Amino acid sequence: MRILTIASLGIGLALFAVDGLAQDAVHGAEDYKLCASCHGFKGEGNQLVNAPALAGQADWYLIRQIRNFRDGIRGTAEGDTHGKAMGQMAQGLASDDKVADIVAYIKTLPAAHPATTVAGDPKTGQALYASCAVCHGSKAEGNEAMNAPALARSDDWYQVRQLQSFRSGLRGAHPDDVYGQQMRPMAAMLADEQAINNVVAYINSLKK
Ligand code: HEC
Ligand code: HEC
Repeated sequence: MRILTIASLGIGLALFAVDGLAQDAVHGAEDYKLCASCHGFKGEGNQLVNAPALAGQADWYLIRQIRNFRDGIRGTAEGDTHGKAMGQMAQGLASDDKVADIVAYIKTLPAAHPATTVAGDPKTGQALYASCAVCHGSKAEGNEAMNAPALARSDDWYQVRQLQSFRSGLRGAHPDDVYGQQMRPMAAMLADEQAINNVVAYINSLKK
């Protein structure tokens, strides 16, 4: 009798965490537990393990990235240590339904507000950002029609590293990475580290 009570209490608690969620998000919540060890329970990101914030990013972009990691289109370039770490995690999401479920769960988390860690000159960065805005939006809100993700919810240190990776070919060089290939020449327009920091500092100034 006592065992039964404890068991039903356990079930009650498990249901509580996902109370009110749609069925796909309930399934995704289970798989997200693994992701939480790096990306945080609220999808807030964790710089110590190089894992960016996910909460607040568009579902179509998250789905594409997880599939790209899983299918070896992202994270497999020689020397891409962080991408490889993530690629192994995506292997567990064998079906596209599983990917969709996990993203449905991430979409229930409150949007992240990443801290500012990069020092740069936002004024100089503003001029540079003019060419980025065409795709990423004037408020860095992202634009699905251009396949360009929001930048206003993601970590500045992560953006710096991605811009470096696009430039060096760690990201976006795979022949099947259609959208990564579009971003590569854009990152190449940023002359040096300082230019990268400046444009990212301007993106920080757009964050609410
Ligand atoms: C071992 C730590 C770790 C775990 C666990 C992990 N990730 Fe990641 N994830 C990373 C790292 C590191 C990156 C950044 C890779 C890079 O720099 O290119 C990343 C990147 C991502 C991105 C790309 C974000 C963007 O804006 O481009 C998505 C989406 C993502 N992870 C989803 C997930 C999901 C879903 C899970 C659970 C199935 C998961 N991750 C589990 C470490 C992890
Ligand atoms: C022609 C459209 C276009 C322009 C212009 C553009 N981007 Fe992008 N950007 C993209 C696309 C598409 C992606 C997604 C690539 C993918 O799916 O892997 C992307 C991805 C990114 C990412 C990675 C985000 C993440 O969460 O992983 C960053 C950072 C970024 N862009 C910054 C910039 C900056 C800064 C500029 C201006 C110097 C810029 N972009 C100009 C299309 C563009």
